[in-house]
Amino acid sequence: MSGITHDYMTDYIRSLIKSEVGILKELEDFAEKEHVPIVQKEVGNFLKFMVMSKKPKKILELGTAIGYSAILMSTASNNKCDITTIERDKGMIDIAKNNIIKYNFQDKINILEGDCLEVLSTLNEKYDMIFMDAGKGHYSEFFPHCMRLLNDNGIIIADNVLFRGMVAADELVQRRKITIVKRMRNYLDMVSRDGDLITSVIPMGDGIAITTRRENNA
Ligand SMILES: C[S@@+](CC[C@H](N)C(=O)[O-])C[C@H]1O[C@@H](n2cnc3c(N)ncnc32)[C@H](O)[C@@H]1O
Repeated sequence: MSGITHDYMTDYIRSLIKSEVGILKELEDFAEKEHVPIVQKEVGNFLKFMVMSKKPKKILELGTAIGYSAILMSTASNNKCDITTIERDKGMIDIAKNNIIKYNFQDKINILEGDCLEVLSTLNEKYDMIFMDAGKGHYSEFFPHCMRLLNDNGIIIADNVLFRGMVAADELVQRRKITIVKRMRNYLDMVSRDGDLITSVIPMGDGIAITTRRENNA
């Protein structure tokens, strides 16, 4: 058990998702070989679903790594949306840049180099979708910026919010992870209790939370 769902459930759900071929398969193989964390298969599928159904024109991503999820979202939009993605690790930035050039996404994906919090404070453009996948312990700090940068009907998708189940159950918490767990609980409290927002937490992958503004007090 992953701490989120039973393995049989995850295996079954994954068996329903078409395997990637081509660019995304090559990136998945690289990530596995080099132990680079990328979105889990069902989360990647969920991102595709959201991009295909919401048709965002502009996406902001926190955490580029090798560029896998940015390329996945760009492909899902039929290369019709512009993606800005933030990464602070120099090694990852170099690999992601190479991938973006190699697979011809230069006009669609732009990497901003630096720490998310610092880069976010310099941004002013609005985004239709924001994908948080960096700095698990800092989502609450990123969030006010994300809200400021989010279009009225935009959505924020935060990954890893249940963090191997630890966020939901004290008995699963490892001592050295307690700070991240507390901070993630704080993030989920914040986005769940704010009356202007509606948030849905889904036990998929490592847990995702989708947040948008309420149009009224419904
Ligand atoms: C889980 S990986 C991102 C995976 C990517 N979204 C994908 O699925 O292909 C998280 C990345 O965020 C970066 N990161 C972590 N904390 C960060 C921060 N505070 N600012 C910028 N990047 C950060 C890490 O270097 C790492 O490459």
